Amino acid sequence: MKNTVVTFREAKQKGEKLTMLTAYDYSTAKLIDEAGVNAILVGDSLGMVMLGYEDTLSVTMEDMIHHSAAVARGIKNTLLITDMPFMSYQTSVYDAVVNAGRLVKEGRAQAVKLEGGMEVCDHIRAIVKASIPVCAHLGLTPQSVNAFGGFKVQGKGEEAAQRLLDEARAVEEAGAFAVVLECVPQALAEKITKSIHIPTIGIGAGAGCDGQVLVYQDMLGMYSDMVPKFAKQYAQVGTQMKEAFAAYRKEVADGTFPAPEHTFKMDETILDKLY
Ligand code: KIV
Repeated sequence: MKNTVVTFREAKQKGEKLTMLTAYDYSTAKLIDEAGVNAILVGDSLGMVMLGYEDTLSVTMEDMIHHSAAVARGIKNTLLITDMPFMSYQTSVYDAVVNAGRLVKEGRAQAVKLEGGMEVCDHIRAIVKASIPVCAHLGLTPQSVNAFGGFKVQGKGEEAAQRLLDEARAVEEAGAFAVVLECVPQALAEKITKSIHIPTIGIGAGAGCDGQVLVYQDMLGMYSDMVPKFAKQYAQVGTQMKEAFAAYRKEVADGTFPAPEHTFKMDETILDKLY
């Protein structure tokens, strides 16, 4: 069944957990869709896991549109949410609506995600007014890495925890259909989840959220040098890929690949006629 923002609302009401994974390309999106995951996030994390940047700040609208459109071609039932990259919405409410519109028109997104609380509530309101569903993102919002002084857990002290709770209420009031909580203590995420009517989607925020999201490279175990504490590895795909690449290299080198079953035949008498 097709997942929509209504699916998200109803899941919260019924107490059913929601699943979300990132994807950035057609073939990965197709597999995630076939696995029955509720939503795919074309995250601006693509800057780090696909493009090799140190953070998400260099990601452009063109990057997001390119990857979002590829993912859209791979899915049937999964809700497609695409991130608004750094400086595509912070600059003005007008820019936020124009760029959210581009992600829908050119990137075929069915919803957009943007980072921040009270300071982006006017932006959320305006995008929602343009009939584009918005997922909010609170806690460790990676586009603020320089303001935070690094990638750090958010909301630990009383003031910071109260602020996060207030921001969750504010983005709900502004019209967001869901909110991602990233790197927030479990007890606070649980309190926020119980205090608002839209689903919370946690990443490093514990089991009390209404759903979970992971970056697919993290959960597939594709990198051994970058394993966030909150990311369970459901496979060791990185090791398997490396072994397969090395086996291919060896077989080409020693002549065992391609074998006869990998080749095409022809009537060899034709060869005799060639000069
Ligand atoms: O960009 C991203 O992948 C995200 C998730 C980590 C929530 O925002």
